[in-house]
Amino acid sequence: MRIGVLGFGNVAAATIERFMANHELIHAKTRTAIQFVRVATRTPARAEGRLPEGCVVSSDCWGLVDDPQVDVVLELTGDVPLSRQLVLRALFNRKHVVTANKALLAKHGEEIMALAEEVGRNVLFEGAVAVSIPIIKTLRESAAANNISSITGILNGTSNYVLSQMSEHDADFAGALAEAQRKGYAEADPTLDVSGEDAAHKLTLLASLSFGVPIHFSSVQIKGIQDIDPVDIGFAKRLGYQIKLIAQAVMEPEGLNVGVQPMLVPMTSMLAQVSDSMNGIALYGDLLGSAFLYGSGAGGRQTSSAVLADLIELANLGGTRVESGAYNMGFRHGHRKAEVVRYTRERVGAFYIRLRLDDKAGVLAGVSAVLAQAGVSVNALLQDEGQHEQSDMIVITHDINSGQLNKMLPALSVAAGAGNSVAIYPVLGSH
Ligand SMILES: NC(=O)c1ccc[n+]([C@@H]2O[C@H](COP(=O)([O-])OP(=O)(O)OC[C@H]3O[C@@H](n4cnc5c(N)ncnc54)[C@H](OP(=O)(O)O)[C@@H]3O)[C@@H](O)[C@H]2O)c1
Repeated sequence: MRIGVLGFGNVAAATIERFMANHELIHAKTRTAIQFVRVATRTPARAEGRLPEGCVVSSDCWGLVDDPQVDVVLELTGDVPLSRQLVLRALFNRKHVVTANKALLAKHGEEIMALAEEVGRNVLFEGAVAVSIPIIKTLRESAAANNISSITGILNGTSNYVLSQMSEHDADFAGALAEAQRKGYAEADPTLDVSGEDAAHKLTLLASLSFGVPIHFSSVQIKGIQDIDPVDIGFAKRLGYQIKLIAQAVMEPEGLNVGVQPMLVPMTSMLAQVSDSMNGIALYGDLLGSAFLYGSGAGGRQTSSAVLADLIELANLGGTRVESGAYNMGFRHGHRKAEVVRYTRERVGAFYIRLRLDDKAGVLAGVSAVLAQAGVSVNALLQDEGQHEQSDMIVITHDINSGQLNKMLPALSVAAGAGNSVAIYPVLGSH
């Protein structure tokens, strides 16, 4: 099985290097021998002296996807517009595709998977989500017989590192992010990480595999970690929670809720133990019950593990024509829930509400009256002596509907005092 690689950055270089280092082991596990024959990248000089014998490098990406000597295209450029065109062309030329590009699949996955199905080729992408955690193969194979009710993850190592530093070392957001960049966790432009968009790319793919819904990036509600006030991290800890950037797809009575947002996670939960740059994923299925997977979310060597696993899988399929619609996204064509699924922006659960109150007579009574009128019952309450004649009141509610909460907000703000901040975070439940 002859591989052509697009790009020669961190992941591509590590994949080829680890392939050469573990060659005998990989050979022992594959029915068809894997051979790297061609690399095409913007700066070919980077690959010189680092390729296996017989593998050539150039800057001709189009030549590579049109080359009849290439059976599998390994897309590792990260350039979304270009890789979309190259991947479609590779499929059109009846080549299998392996990629780690979550942004590409989140935005253009439907188009790419439709063509893959039409031409009977595979698009494998284990390296696109939480690289050391085999979550794609878990959903597609090991958990295939389950009705999944929810999938919940910490899917972005950079934002998890920043929140861990803020929580455990009282770092401020800018300082923690600079440290993440210094350690090589964050991108040079970390906007995709801290805005929640990178986690949303990954969640889009997990939701599609779990629930059989189309890969639909715009159905994900996204809120990042940029605006988290450190006081809320402190209050959450005092109440027994960590604030984490949680990516969750959950089947609510009203429909499928797919979102990335900061949430309060009980300290006793395994997700709360996922700290620094690590990733974790909790999965609920009707047969397996609950499962928890933990591992690194990034790194060239770690991603090479996932990418090489996809190549080994293809080599063991022997290039035979499989019904790729069933294979790539887990569900057979015509059995995905494109028409029947409803998305909902509402979720039922507990919420953390912090109100900054003016220290005036009657304010507390006013706030309590608004909560009572909206039928919100309080599970936990904390009041903190503030400064400048203000104090903070923190309420953890019992389960309520987020729509109900949003309706109550204007009245709550008025009761707390004009111009005072109100912070709200959902609390992660048991599912
Ligand atoms: N790094 C990780 O930990 C990780 C983990 C999971 C998934 N991924 C995904 O894996 C993919 C590759 O990531 P990476 O970290 O290896 O990125 P990278 O180090 O930036 O490498 C990208 C490579 O692609 C080349 N390239 C970029 N645009 C190109 C273009 N228009 N034409 C030709 N070549 C082009 C670059 O050329 P130059 O050498 O000239 O820059 C570079 O060699 C991305 O989709 C990323 O999201 C990465």
